[in-house]
Order: sequence, then structure tokens, then C-alpha cells
Amino acid sequence: MDNRRQEWLDAIAAAGDEAELRRIDHGLLGKQGVVQELVRGVSSLPAAERPAAGKAANQLKLELQAALDARRAHLQAESLTRELAAPDFDPTEPGPALTQGTLHPITAVQNELVELFTSLGFTWQDGPEIESEHYNFEALNIPADHPARDVQDTFWLQDGTLLRTHTSPVQVRTMRRFRPPLRVIVPGRCFRQETVDASHEHTFFQMEGLVVDRAVSTANLIHTMKTCLRVILRREDLEVRLRPGFFPFVEPGFELDVRCLLCGGAGCKVCKQSGWIEILPCGMVHPNVLRAGGIDPEEYTGFAFGMGLQRVTMLRYGIPDIRYFMGGDLRFLRQFVEV
Ligand code: PHE
Repeated sequence: MDNRRQEWLDAIAAAGDEAELRRIDHGLLGKQGVVQELVRGVSSLPAAERPAAGKAANQLKLELQAALDARRAHLQAESLTRELAAPDFDPTEPGPALTQGTLHPITAVQNELVELFTSLGFTWQDGPEIESEHYNFEALNIPADHPARDVQDTFWLQDGTLLRTHTSPVQVRTMRRFRPPLRVIVPGRCFRQETVDASHEHTFFQMEGLVVDRAVSTANLIHTMKTCLRVILRREDLEVRLRPGFFPFVEPGFELDVRCLLCGGAGCKVCKQSGWIEILPCGMVHPNVLRAGGIDPEEYTGFAFGMGLQRVTMLRYGIPDIRYFMGGDLRFLRQFVEV
């Protein structure tokens, strides 16, 4: 074996380029290579000789591997030196361009909203995506047997926690952490077990808003919402209206609509001929929710809203199908390079 060992090492050292080295590597260490053959031969030796022979085969393998690696590194260094010395090498030539990603449209809209609300004195709060039943439902005035739980078809985990169905749990989390006056926004991912279609996704993004202070009124809510929609939809002439909406954690609760941006109210496909587009649920924080957060409802009032980020992004860019957002199609995503 010793003879052949030296032969092999010599062959490796003499390999003139990487292709030749690969062929040698294959012949020596490949599945059908000579080293495998040696290893296989070990088992047919008398028992007493096997350990030593096995060890020798292993050592040989390591030695050949090391020699191959060393020769490869040497050849690579050599070819680089050759390239650098070539007369047509131009060190000032730009390297290959890195492909640059773009912000996801939801992230872009979220960033704009965060910027706007921070300029209005709001701070950004975060909460867990895996949430307790308490914060997701009970603390929000939705007891176990309440039918409002049914409209938020929930992914439950085995330990009794759940994937939050909205960003509202962070309302009470925030109240328990800080004292009023509060002005917070909570952008975040939420989950519901939805049948996915053009306007429903199991994973979606909301931005919660919460204001708690002395003498906060519905007028403050409307003003804040109008300011926000004007900026995000880039329209000065927005008209909004409130309709009653039921959410157990607000009282009164509203659905806020904007006059259809496309037809101006005459009726079209986007507004389903109604002239209005339902854009965000909101309302005055329910006294029970303030209490759950340790705030005295006699002293403080507040408003809250839950903006669907996909929805505003769709309106803003005229995107017809919610499934594009998470479909991973780069042709879709690359259209939003403005940010
Ligand atoms: N959390 C509610 C939902 O996801 C929306 C909402 C938020 C309503 C705040 C009122 C106030 O359906």
C-alpha cells in the first residue's frame, strides 16, 4: 500500500488544473474509489488484523483528503494570480451588481403611518403574536361564551394560548404598563382561520391605535382618522362617515367609511355601487376595558381604532387581490420601488 500511497500523493501534487484534480479525487475518494475498496477489504481480513487495517485505511483517507485540499487551494491561488497579472485585468471595473430588494408594500405603508402617528405624539407599542386568551378576548370584554368570538375564528395552540386575532390585546397590555395620557399605535401581524379569497387571508396586518386621556371624545377620533387617511391615501378632499359597528371593547363602536376614491360617490365596482368604502372599525374605549387596564373610567376616556393594513395598501395602490401580498411573486413586489 505504501508504494501506491506515494503514487497517489504524487499524482495529486502533479495535477495541473482543478478539473484534473477533481478526476483524481473521484478515483481515490469517490464511492467506487480505491480507498472505499480498501475499506471494504478490511472486513474480509482475519479478525485480529482488522483494527489495524481499518485504522490505516482511515489515516490514508485523511491524508489524501488533506493533500487534495492543499493542491486545490494552491491551484486556485495560482489561477487568481494569473488572472490579476493578465493585461486585460482592470481593477477599476465595477463588480457584479448586487440585486437590491425593495420594501414590501405593507411595510412601506406601515412605515408611513408610523411616521405620521409619531409626528402626532404617538409611540409604537409591540405585543406578542402568541397571545393569551385573557388579553385577546376577556380583557377586551369578550367573555368565553360571547358570540363575538365566533367572528374571529381562532388558531388555538395546545397549551391554551392562541395566535392573536387582532392587535387589540395590546390595548390592555399598554394600559397596564403605562399611566394615561396614552397615545399609542401597534402595527402587527394577526391570524384568523379564514377561507382565503381575494379579500381574506389567514395572516394579515393591522395597526391598532389607542388614545386615553381626560375628555377624549368622538370628535378627536374623527379628526385623527381623517388626518391619517388623508396622508395615507394621498387625498386632500376625503369625506368620511361613521356607521354604528359592534365590537365588545368599544362603546359606541363605529365603522368608518370614506367616500369612494374611484367614483367620487356615484357608485362603482370597488364600492359595490354604494359610493362608500368601509375602511376602519373604531370606537370609544369601553369602560370595562379601561377597568381591565387599571384605569378609572370616571376619570378617563379614550378611543381606539383597528386599521387593516392590507386594506389601506390595496386602496392606496389599487391592488385588486389580497393574495398578492404573501404570494411571493417578485413581479408583484418589484412594482413598489418608490420607497
Ligand atoms: N380589533 C377589531 C378587529 O380586528 C377592530 C377594532 C379595533 C375595532 C379597535 C374597534 C376598535 O376586528
